[in-house]
Amino acid sequence: MQTKRTLLSAAAFALLAATSAAWAQNQGKLKVGFMLPATGTFASLGTAIDNGFRLYVAEQGGKIAGREVEFVRVDDESDPSKATDNVNKLIKRDNVDVIVGTVHSGVAMAMAKAAKESGTLLIIPNAGAAAVTGPMCAPNIFRSSFSNWQPGYAMGEVATKKGHKRIVTITWKYAAGDEAVKGFKDGFEKGGGNVIKELSLPFPNVEFQALLTEIAALKPDAVFTFFAGGGAVKFVKDYSAAGLKKSIPLYGSGFLTDGTLEAQGADAADLLTTLHYGDNLNTKRDQSFRLSYAKTYKLQPDVYAVQGYDAGQILGIGLNATKGDAKNITGFAQAVRAAKIDSPRGPFILSKSHNPVQDIYLRKVVGKENVIEGIASKALADPGLGCKM
Ligand code: PHB
Repeated sequence: MQTKRTLLSAAAFALLAATSAAWAQNQGKLKVGFMLPATGTFASLGTAIDNGFRLYVAEQGGKIAGREVEFVRVDDESDPSKATDNVNKLIKRDNVDVIVGTVHSGVAMAMAKAAKESGTLLIIPNAGAAAVTGPMCAPNIFRSSFSNWQPGYAMGEVATKKGHKRIVTITWKYAAGDEAVKGFKDGFEKGGGNVIKELSLPFPNVEFQALLTEIAALKPDAVFTFFAGGGAVKFVKDYSAAGLKKSIPLYGSGFLTDGTLEAQGADAADLLTTLHYGDNLNTKRDQSFRLSYAKTYKLQPDVYAVQGYDAGQILGIGLNATKGDAKNITGFAQAVRAAKIDSPRGPFILSKSHNPVQDIYLRKVVGKENVIEGIASKALADPGLGCKM
C-alpha cells in the first residue's frame, strides 16, 4: 500500500512538474499587442512607433523584466468603426499582456474603453485624445506621447507673441483636429487674439482646394493647422501651390512637418511648428538614441519613433517594479508615476492622469530638419479635465 501510494505520488509529481514547466514557459513570454495603422494616411507613423518600441526591447536584450517579448500585431487602419473588434482580438483572442497603440484619437478612445473594462494594460504611443487622460482615465492606461491640446496651446502663445490678431484654423474634423484647435485658441485668445474662422474637412480627406480659396478670401494674419502623415504632406504642398505660403504664415502642431519633410521638400521650408521633439536637441541621450535608430533602421527617427521607444521605457519601468507581473496594476502604476522617464526628447514625468508633462519646443524647418529655436512652453501639463482616479 505504502509503495503503491509512493509510486502514485511520484507519477503525479512528474506530471505536475511537466505541466508547470510548460505553463511557466508559456507565461514566461510577455505578449505585447501592437494595434497600429499599417495602411492609410498614418501608415508610416505606425511603422516608426513599432521601430522605436522594438529598439527599446532590443536594447534590453529582447527581454523585459526577465520575460522574453513576443509581438502580435493588428492593423487598425485608423478606422474607429473597426476599433472595438480589433482591440478585442488582442484582448480576448490573443490574450495579450499589454496593448500598445495607437495613432488615431478616435480609435484610441475605443481602445481605452476596452482596456478600462478588461483591466488590460494600455500604453498609447501617439493618439492625443483628451478623453483617454480625461474622463476615461484609469490606473491601467498610460500615454507616452502628448495630448492634442499641448502643442496647439504652445503655438497659440507663439502666435500671440508674433503680434497676430486674426487667425484662421484648418484641420480634419475629429477629436485630434478639434482638440489641437481648442489648445491653439486657449493659448491665442488669452493674449487678445481672435480665431475668425474654423475650417475643417472629414478625416482622412485631402481635397483642400475650396478651403484654401476661402483662406485667400478671408486674408487672415496667419493660419494654424493640424494635419499629420500623408495628409500633412499634401496640405503643405497645396498651401504652397495655392500661392498662400508667400503671403499668409502657416503654423502648426509639429506633426505637420515631422516624418514628412522628405516628401514635402522645399514647400515646407521655414515653417514654424510646436512639438515635444526636434532634430537638433544635441543632448547625449538623444544623440545615442538617434545613432542606434539610424544604425538599426537606416532611417532618421522622428517624434513617433521617440514615442514608441518611450512606450517601451514605460512598460520596462512598470514591469521591473512588479517583477514582470502585468496584472499587478497598482504596483505598475505606482512605479511609473514615481519615475522620471529618460526620453530622447528630454526627461519627463507623467501627470496624475498619466499624460507627459513636457517641454514643447518651437521648431523651424531647415532643409530636412525641424530645427529647435527654443522652448515655447516649459513643462507643459495637459489640464486632464474630468479625470478621477
Ligand atoms: C491623433 O489622432 O490623435 C493624432 C494623429 C496623428 C498625429 C497626432 C495625433 O500625428
